[in-house]
Amino acid sequence: MIVTKTIEETVNFLIPRRNQGKSIGLVPTMGALHQGHLSLLHKARMENDFVVCSIFVNPIQFNNPEDLKKYPRTLEADLKLLEEVGCDLVFTPEVKEIYPNTLEPLPVYELSGLDKPMEGAFRPGHFQGVCVIVHKLFSIVRPKRAYFGEKDFQQLAIIRHMVKSLKLDLEIVGCPIVREEDGLALSSRNMRLSAEERQIAPMIYKTLQQARLKVKSTPKNDITPNQLKQWITDQISSYPSLKPEYIEVVDKNTLQPIQGWKEGNELIVCVAVYDGAVRLIDNIVLFS
Ligand code: PAF
Repeated sequence: MIVTKTIEETVNFLIPRRNQGKSIGLVPTMGALHQGHLSLLHKARMENDFVVCSIFVNPIQFNNPEDLKKYPRTLEADLKLLEEVGCDLVFTPEVKEIYPNTLEPLPVYELSGLDKPMEGAFRPGHFQGVCVIVHKLFSIVRPKRAYFGEKDFQQLAIIRHMVKSLKLDLEIVGCPIVREEDGLALSSRNMRLSAEERQIAPMIYKTLQQARLKVKSTPKNDITPNQLKQWITDQISSYPSLKPEYIEVVDKNTLQPIQGWKEGNELIVCVAVYDGAVRLIDNIVLFS
């Protein structure tokens, strides 16, 4: 496994592979790798000749400096895991390698409003920051396929949109959420939960499962999407350390909150919930 720090060495290493006709799969990460990331790497390993993982804690996608400071950095352990899953190249640049000129204006991406609800409403500029780094990584690595988790459902939808609107020549592969046995979605942030908070955290997904059952078993006229949202909010808030930031029932394609049920709509419930000081996100498909 090769570890590169500069754009130049990464590009130079990949050119001959691409010229030999090898397919390149990219898994962009911010490190602190867990089984969720590893599931993306396993899929990339199965579908490509050459697997690249990037590890870069992208400062411009953090709107809260405290969150950036506290973001776990576990490079040594990450490299070990990457070696074990058969990753071929790890690109782990410093911030100044990616953003050498702090005065240069960053590109602005047209996101058709996909960045407005949910994460976008609470983390202004977050998705522009994600698009900047993901687009840069695509230009450096020029992968045939890139892998993203469905836990960040809005991010995945926005990256798909960016690739389509810029007519980038690669396939975006979405991968299912990986959960602990008790249902908690894997996240690098889970390691910041206290023992008590960790015990309560699975109630987020349990509530989403109950909500899905409720919708499927209740006549549509008896519960509106807003009533369902309120029910989920009340359930989650009833646990001592949990504080919902947003709960939304949205159309899977437009990400816009829905007002009423319509036959054939593909719907997903997305939530962000504070467990103590740790912000967790999760989602569940209602109808697909
Ligand atoms: O999902 C993440 O870990 C990050 O948002 C990503 C896609 C690696 C961009 O920094």
